[in-house]
Amino acid sequence: MNLKTFILLSTIFVSANAFDFIKYSLGRISQTDPCDDFYRHACPLGEYGHLVSEAYDSLFKEVIYKQKDSSWENLEILKVLEEVHVSVFDEDMNEIIVNSFEEMCQRNAPEKANFLLRVQQVLTKSLDTTCSQYTCLLPLAKDENCTQVSEILRRRLSHRGFEPPSMFIESLKWEIEKYLKNIRAVNIILDMNLQKGVKKLNSFTEEMIAVLSDWVKKTPWANNHGVEGTIEQIANEIHLEDNFPVQLAKNIEPLFKMEKMFLKCSREFSKQEDLLCLAYVAEFNELQSTPHAIFSEFSAMYRHPSTRVSSHLYAIATNAEAEAGTLGMAGLIAGHEIAHGVIEDPKRLQLFPVFSNEAIECVQNQYNKTCREFVEEICETDEYQIDENGADMLGLQLAYQLFENTYGDKKGFEYIKIHNRSITYQQLFFYGAAFANCDGRKSVGLGTHSASNVRTNVIANHPAFKEAFQCASDSRMMSTVEKQCLVYGEKAPQTRKKFHQKNI
Ligand SMILES: *[C@@H]1O[C@H](CO)[C@@H](O)[C@H](O)[C@H]1NC(C)=O
Ligand SMILES: *[C@@H]1O[C@H](CO)[C@@H](O)[C@H](O)[C@H]1NC(C)=O
Ligand SMILES: *[C@@H]1O[C@H](CO)[C@@H](O)[C@H](O)[C@H]1NC(C)=O
Ligand SMILES: [Zn+2]
Repeated sequence: MNLKTFILLSTIFVSANAFDFIKYSLGRISQTDPCDDFYRHACPLGEYGHLVSEAYDSLFKEVIYKQKDSSWENLEILKVLEEVHVSVFDEDMNEIIVNSFEEMCQRNAPEKANFLLRVQQVLTKSLDTTCSQYTCLLPLAKDENCTQVSEILRRRLSHRGFEPPSMFIESLKWEIEKYLKNIRAVNIILDMNLQKGVKKLNSFTEEMIAVLSDWVKKTPWANNHGVEGTIEQIANEIHLEDNFPVQLAKNIEPLFKMEKMFLKCSREFSKQEDLLCLAYVAEFNELQSTPHAIFSEFSAMYRHPSTRVSSHLYAIATNAEAEAGTLGMAGLIAGHEIAHGVIEDPKRLQLFPVFSNEAIECVQNQYNKTCREFVEEICETDEYQIDENGADMLGLQLAYQLFENTYGDKKGFEYIKIHNRSITYQQLFFYGAAFANCDGRKSVGLGTHSASNVRTNVIANHPAFKEAFQCASDSRMMSTVEKQCLVYGEKAPQTRKKFHQKNI
């Protein structure tokens, strides 16, 4: 389908759109002291999972449901894949092929040559008629003794045959679902009119990169090692991936190619030869290595030079009443992804020739202290988390700088009263940061990411947190902080060269 028609067709306004996630989440905060355990103050323990996902699940499902008649939601290949009975999954595919052929031969069906050609193509992994010795099946179509020729086919397949059906069924399903999810995610943005949020995240990203560039230039350790130019260049290459029509095309094209290939194959046969055609599509469908432009699950990623965020953040940014909350939440996540580009483990350098040990030690030390103070289920601080921890901390600093630039003297003004507590814009920024990871279940670390409560409570490291909530120095939140961990900027560490160079 032509892309323009397609976009027009799918731009139906969805009215369930005005949901302000940040305001909704503010209504759920508890009466506890924010300086005691900020995460549990903002995100009380309770009967809910990841708050962002739960809040948007049904909204997004509605949008997807409205698209149920669209061509990509009605693929024949997917219907067939879903109808294959599980009992078939582990059957011997070679036997299935031989039996189909024998039956076709006995009917003297004219398509038996086509059948043998498809089988031959799968075995030779070649779309033309090239074959050698036992992979040459096409000539068997001339043999009229069906018992004999089926026996030959069986013998040939025992040399180099098919995978069990479960293999290609599962991989096709997985592949198709992946494309569909991406297509749906783009359609959520289009149908819900989230362009305002896209624009916002784009400008956050650009502004944060400008701030970061400026900090990098003034960073003592980078200056001492002469690497500020390299780091700045990397930072300036980063941008938010927001070319949705292109992303849509990148997912629709391969999906429809699979569908066409499948339909063409099945129409060659008078009886259903679905399994052969599925195996055929699985063999010749060209896997796209990077179709994930955007996600339907709540997430974000950085793959140089682009950052990507899920539709949730665009929806939040479109509908949040106050920019401070959007900056704390969507700004922090956008900043985190940018920060991934400029944070390295000094012991495992990848892109940069050097990285500040002191800066990373400070970050890890903060995570360790926060983890020990607030542990709920499990949390740990280890070297494999350096990249994520560093990205969290720098992302927060970048987002806060944007907040400071936007609000200036108005940061202490009241935004709203909740449970007779007056919430200022500066506080709203930090609430937004907590809402990014809100979860009613006890926090556990997930691989390279620290536990949600730790990721949130490390915000005490930023001096603005103490200011926003007027926390006492001996409060639990502040007790974990030694000093602000700055990776970049004029107050970042020196990290001088250990050895003089050859200038004797
Ligand atoms: C078909 O082939 C089998 C063995 O390969 C043989 O026993 C049989 O006689 C053949 N039938 C005819 C009709 O030629
Ligand atoms: C965390 O802190 C504890 C206690 O001070 C210390 O024993 C441990 O080595 C620290 N771990 C890391 C990874 O810094
Ligand atoms: C809310 O108001 C009540 C009654 O005026 C007061 O007792 C309570 O301390 C207030 N709570 C907060 C968090 O300010
Ligand atoms: Zn990350």
